[in-house]
Order: sequence, then C-alpha cells, then structure tokens
Amino acid sequence: MKVDPWKVEGKVDYEKLIKEFGLKKIDEKTLELIKKVSEEKNEKLHLFLRRKLFFSHRDFDIALKEYFEGKKFFLYTGRAPGGKMHLGHLIPFLFTKYLQKIFDVNLYIQIPDDEKFLFKKNLTLNKVKEMTEQDLLDIAALNFDEDKTFIFKNSEYIKNMYPLFLKTAKKINFSTVKATFGFNNESNIGMISYPALQIIPTFFEKNRAVIPCAIDQDPYFRLQRDIAESLGFKKNVNIHSKFLPPLTGFEGKMSSSEEEKAILLSDDEKTVKKKINKYAFSGGKNTLEEHRKYGGDTSIDVSYIWLYYLFEEDDNKILEVKEQYESGKLLSGELKAMLIEKINSFLKQHNKNKEKAKSKLKKYMYEGKLAKQMWKKIHE
Ligand code: TYM
Repeated sequence: MKVDPWKVEGKVDYEKLIKEFGLKKIDEKTLELIKKVSEEKNEKLHLFLRRKLFFSHRDFDIALKEYFEGKKFFLYTGRAPGGKMHLGHLIPFLFTKYLQKIFDVNLYIQIPDDEKFLFKKNLTLNKVKEMTEQDLLDIAALNFDEDKTFIFKNSEYIKNMYPLFLKTAKKINFSTVKATFGFNNESNIGMISYPALQIIPTFFEKNRAVIPCAIDQDPYFRLQRDIAESLGFKKNVNIHSKFLPPLTGFEGKMSSSEEEKAILLSDDEKTVKKKINKYAFSGGKNTLEEHRKYGGDTSIDVSYIWLYYLFEEDDNKILEVKEQYESGKLLSGELKAMLIEKINSFLKQHNKNKEKAKSKLKKYMYEGKLAKQMWKKIHE
C-alpha cells in the first residue's frame, strides 16, 4: 500500500493509516455531538458520517469542545486543477458544505492553480488555466454560504499571501519536506516550496482551521502542526474521508489519470452507462443460477459500495438492496442499473446548477462579504 498526495497504490488499509498518521477514528461520542448540532439546524447526520466514509480525524473533538464553549473554528479545503474532476473530488466539498451549514462558519477554498503544473511533467500553464475555470464552476455549483465563503486561485491571491508565504517557508527546511513528501534530487524547487502554499490558508484566521479532505492530503497538515504555534496560530484539525474506489475495484483511488476507471463530472449519460456496465467490478456470481443460489458479495461490489457511500441516502432502502443482492434476488445488472440511474440524475442536476454558478462564483471570489474582506487583507 502507498498513500501520498500524488499516488495511492494497492488496497488501502485505513486502520493502518490511522496508526501511521497518528489519527483517531470518528467515534460514537463525536458522532452524537455532530448529530446534535445537525438536528438543531434541522439536518440529519450527514450520509458520509452515517456510512463512515468520513472515518478519522485529528483533534476534531477539541474543535467541537471549543465550539460548544463559544469559540468558532473555520473550514478550509481545496482542489488543484490539472486533470478532469471526477465524482470522488466532490466528496470533501459536499461534506464541507454540510459542515458550513450546521456550524455556520467561514470557509476558505484554495484553488492552487500552480500545484499540478509543478508536479505533472507535460502539463502547460495554459492548460491549467483552462481547467481551472471548469473546476471553479463545478465547485461553485455546490452552493456554499455566499457571505461566508472565499474561493481563491493562488495565482491571483498570492500578493495578499506573500508575507505569510515567506514566514511559513522559512520555518520548513528541505530535510523535513524530503522526509514528509519523499522529494529527491530530481524534484524541482517549485515542488519543494509548494507545501508552504497549501499550509498558508490554515493561518487565514486566528481561530482554528478544520480541514475536511481525503486522507492523501494529510502530510501537509501534519507539517502545519509543527510550525503553527511558533508563528502565532493554532494547530489545524483534520477530518478525513476514505477514497471512493475506482470502478475496477479496491486497488488505489479513483483518479482522472485513468479515465475509464472513473466517472467524470463531464461524462454524459451514455458514457456513464457504458463505463458502469463495462468496468464496475461486480460481486455477483458467474452464472445466473449460481447467483440466485449463493447471492452476491456486497463487500467487493463497486456498484453497491458507490450506492452505499454516495447515492442511496435512504438507510432502509440500502439495507434492502444489500439483503436482496446477498440473497440472490437482485442481479448484478439490476444493481448496476440502479447506480447508473442515480449517477445520471445527480449529474443532470449538477450540470443545471453549474449553468447558474457563474454569478455565485463571482460572489465567492470577489463580491461576497468574506471575499471583500479577504481582498483588503494582507496576511502578515
Ligand atoms: P485534488 O485536486 O487532487 O483533490 C481534491 C480533493 O479531493 C480529494 N480526493 C478524493 N476524495 C475521495 N475519493 C477520491 N477518489 C479522491 N480523489 C481525490 C482530495 O483528498 C482533495 O481533498 N493538494 C490538493 C489541493 C488542495 C487541498 C487543500 C486539498 C489545496 N489546499 C486543502 C484539501 C485541503 C489536491 O491536489 O487535491
């Protein structure tokens, strides 16, 4: 198994990562507290928490305790343009939207339109620029709080962040980033300084930053905790999701570099249908007879797992699907058809929202209350 911000290989052992990265599982007590806050806002505990897609954290219990004492935190997450966005990329954003809604807090979304240029060999800045515009609309389509959300591109906002970039970069030496990220003599010097850029938004407020993301991004935020207090800020808090697996099974994560294994936000209905039918790994039996007799295995069936984590909100319905599939009543093709229908209706709605996202994006980036404040601020 290998999990770092650039590559996920092998079957991910999340228990092992919890130990290696020094994390805690999100326990029942923490879930109860989040549920309480949700219910006060007439929201159910989020699907991703009920189904344990978000599964681990570092100090989220402290952020909650402080919240109940009246000390607010802020949210921070991001997306680096450079490849096509897939369904997995939306997970942290959908979850962050929920957290913003129930806790009513500020949210900063970093669009590092420099990161993938530095890390990918054949990617041009022009291509990144093009992709950035699409990614921004995909994110804005999710609907955050217009006055409490600031979305920024590094290339535009760097001027305001520059003093803080210098201070952060000065605190981190080469041997630390080498050990944390595996940089070597072939790594370009842009890559080596990039971690400072991803850490900076955790210092946008004196309050504590809470960062929802998949677990691959954790190294950046472990590093933040070593330097935050010496710069006069609080250590950040993390809440991690598992990876949405690729269509082909549980090796690695869904990634846009292998398009046939992923459902892209830009896929049309036909492509979704084709990909699921052709590639979605099935836990069904080889023949109809065997399947009816022995049933399917939901623990390895990608269509079931995607329905479970993302698309079947109804807890009774998903249980029924599991029972029917495992008893052989429901066939693999029928399960796939359910997933295809759900994904296509999700994407249809997403694309509608995306069409209307331009004016929202202006608010998040420049005209909303928080955005206006941020453009006036030079981060020292
Ligand atoms: P990026 O653009 O690779 O990914 C964006 C977000 O999506 C998560 N992610 C996934 N989640 C579930 N299943 C998957 N298969 C999957 N693939 C990716 C990533 O963990 C990430 O949260 N360096 C970052 C950009 C960034 C950022 C941040 C991310 C800048 N600041 C702060 C999180 C928090 C990147 O390249 O993400």
